[in-house]
Amino acid sequence: MAVVRQTPRLAARPRAMLGAERDHALAMLGGQDDVAGDEDHSHWIKLGLFRRTELIDPKWNQSKKSMWTSPSEHGVNCSNGRRARMPTNFERARSVIEQLLPIAAKLVQGDLDNMIRTRLRSLSVSYGNGLLNQDRRPVDYTRTTTHIAYFYRSLAAHGDWLFKTLRRCRDNARRALNKGRAIRVACIGGGPGSDILGICKFLVQENLMDQRIDFVVLDRERAWNRSRSLLAGTFDGELEIAEHYQSLDVTDDDQWTDDWAFCQSDIISMNFFLSEVWSFNGNGTVSRFIQRVIDLAPRGTLFTYVDNGGDNFCPLADAEFDRDDIELVTSGNDDRLLLSGEEQADVVMTPYRERFGGQWPKLKGNVAWRVWKKR
Ligand SMILES: C[S@@+](CC[C@H](N)C(=O)[O-])C[C@H]1O[C@@H](n2cnc3c(N)ncnc32)[C@H](O)[C@@H]1O
Repeated sequence: MAVVRQTPRLAARPRAMLGAERDHALAMLGGQDDVAGDEDHSHWIKLGLFRRTELIDPKWNQSKKSMWTSPSEHGVNCSNGRRARMPTNFERARSVIEQLLPIAAKLVQGDLDNMIRTRLRSLSVSYGNGLLNQDRRPVDYTRTTTHIAYFYRSLAAHGDWLFKTLRRCRDNARRALNKGRAIRVACIGGGPGSDILGICKFLVQENLMDQRIDFVVLDRERAWNRSRSLLAGTFDGELEIAEHYQSLDVTDDDQWTDDWAFCQSDIISMNFFLSEVWSFNGNGTVSRFIQRVIDLAPRGTLFTYVDNGGDNFCPLADAEFDRDDIELVTSGNDDRLLLSGEEQADVVMTPYRERFGGQWPKLKGNVAWRVWKKR
């Protein structure tokens, strides 16, 4: 089945804005240019990246032949009784990185790998200790090289932890995702597509591949659209999914959307999103937004929350969902949560770890999960 991707192409941004972004990039990065602007987008089209590309290079594929042909836990039941091997999150992440690298190479003046190392370090600092500091600046996700760093570092883990969360409330998740009609999923702060990855992994593993899904991704950062579209493309032939982008800055009610139809979704996901915006909730805007979404959601809607664990973050989320019309379906916190066994990080580490400065992808973390249901 074909993937129907409907994310609007990036609109041309005013030159003045591009200039300001470029200045900002130069200031931050010691003179190298990596601005995902108009030029960036035209490269994308010229390279034909909307087309489906091979997931893994054939040589690598061959070396993993036994994995591909042996019955595997991560796969789907075939009519011949075997299980077909489906790509893992790391393989999908690698596919997108491979497609983004030539685009980034055209944008960066100077050493591309060095720039990606800088982005990885910068993400580590941003996610370090200060996420709740009220005077911190929002994380900058505008650059293609940041997307490469994010796909290398976080995407597979975030997708897998959402998948694991859905497995923890399997019956509820199956009911929400198996409706005999197109399923609607809203991903708040879902920019890179990790939420899509987690939900699609669950559908594949549960053999719910006939289910058509419409994803609405609400995010402040439009620049994610290209990377996420490439990620969605890795499901071509496996699942029928559509994804739309809806601009949203949750911390600024002037910029809240007028279109609240996304609240009518079967699942509303918040994956590693709230921890990034609590520090901007000084005037209660984030809370008001969440309350409004819960108010508008129909009975039966599932809210999935996967995020940094611990006493700093969990009580904030729990307080928002402490309402009479909300039922807690599953909850937990593991300070050393691992990835599912089939997620082998060497898929990205072998080609990129040294190139990207030695940092490891996320393989474990202090992670909290909740699934709430609207009564
Ligand atoms: C750590 S990333 C998580 C992305 C994805 N859900 C995942 O699990 O990997 C945080 C996301 O929130 C988005 N974001 C940050 N601040 C936001 C805001 N004020 N309003 C809407 N989205 C925001 C970012 O653009 C980014 O996509």
